[in-house]
Amino acid sequence: MADELKSVDYGLEKIFEGAQDFLPLLGTDYVELYVGNAKQAAHFYKTAFGFQSYAYRGLETGSKNEVSYVLKQDKIRLVLTSPLGSQSKINEHIVKHGDGVKIVALWVDDARDAYAQTTKRGAKSYCEPFVEKDEDGETVRAGIYTYGETVHMFVERKNYNGVFLPGYRAWESDYNPEPTGLKYIDHMVGNVGWNQMNTWVKFYEDVMGFVNFLSFDDKQIHTEYSALMSKVMSNGNGRIKFPINEPAEAAKKSQIEEYLDFYEGAGVQHLALATDDIIRTVAQLKARGIEFLPPPPQTYYDDIPQRLGEHMKVMKEDIEKLQELSILVDADEDGYLLQIFTKPLQDRPTLFFEIIQRMGAKGFGAGNFKALFESIEREQAQRGTL
Ligand code: FE2
Repeated sequence: MADELKSVDYGLEKIFEGAQDFLPLLGTDYVELYVGNAKQAAHFYKTAFGFQSYAYRGLETGSKNEVSYVLKQDKIRLVLTSPLGSQSKINEHIVKHGDGVKIVALWVDDARDAYAQTTKRGAKSYCEPFVEKDEDGETVRAGIYTYGETVHMFVERKNYNGVFLPGYRAWESDYNPEPTGLKYIDHMVGNVGWNQMNTWVKFYEDVMGFVNFLSFDDKQIHTEYSALMSKVMSNGNGRIKFPINEPAEAAKKSQIEEYLDFYEGAGVQHLALATDDIIRTVAQLKARGIEFLPPPPQTYYDDIPQRLGEHMKVMKEDIEKLQELSILVDADEDGYLLQIFTKPLQDRPTLFFEIIQRMGAKGFGAGNFKALFESIEREQAQRGTL
């Protein structure tokens, strides 16, 4: 797998070259999940992942129909939203998809222009530009649909000095578990239906000005039983990376198909959260009750020196420690990376988190796909969905 990767040029210069950065995107602003019980979900993400209380809107702030808790850890902002009655449209989303990501918000300098540029290029509108104000200034937001019912919201906040967005108040809590070292969103992966990957690759190219900088076909991503295909899209400055997966034909059911069945459509499969000390982060998460995919077999760890080659010389982490925590390692020509995947974060086998530490590598752990997917298949088999 590492050899196959060597033929791919995925330096950032190349990304700049191919991307038409007409938006441009400054970074991820927030990720909003629609959940059945935002209060309890907020407690879970604080306790287990070390997110900090940040902002709140609800009945006390004049929000009569929905409630949102905003959690923060370094640059990551999660918004957890629940409806306060049966009439809210949010209910339909939750009934159909379960808890899941509704909005991937992107920080821009000019939300009206980002909306005009993308809808002109064929994006389906979610909401036209709207202004929100309070005593701390004003924001402009506008939304377009991406795959499934998922939305990209453009957020312009250059004239705003408040805590999150107008309508929110700072959320001060007496309960503040320590952060676990999560820093920023490295990438966000979408699962789309059969034969839909290229449709959405084209959407990100044509509508968003992204480039496809890495591709994996089902010959590269497969196990004895199942397969998938994946293409990685990046915006011009490389800050936003969206791999898009679709299932592929194989002897048994692809994990992507299982996701599509349970999410009842396309949606966000995982958020990869970066840390610069994965051993400390994962040890913390395990101590707080987060469950990760079971470890690969002993041979996986025995083979690490051979797989990493030159990078072994600079690798700081102890392989035994990695094995103890079930952390995976992969390398490409630029360096190595360490990663691990949680089990699904809700009862439906849909959204999960990846924890990733990059030590120079720009890939996505292709060398781990087989071991990882075999691990997922063991879980699928237990669920009766393989
Ligand atoms: Fe990932």
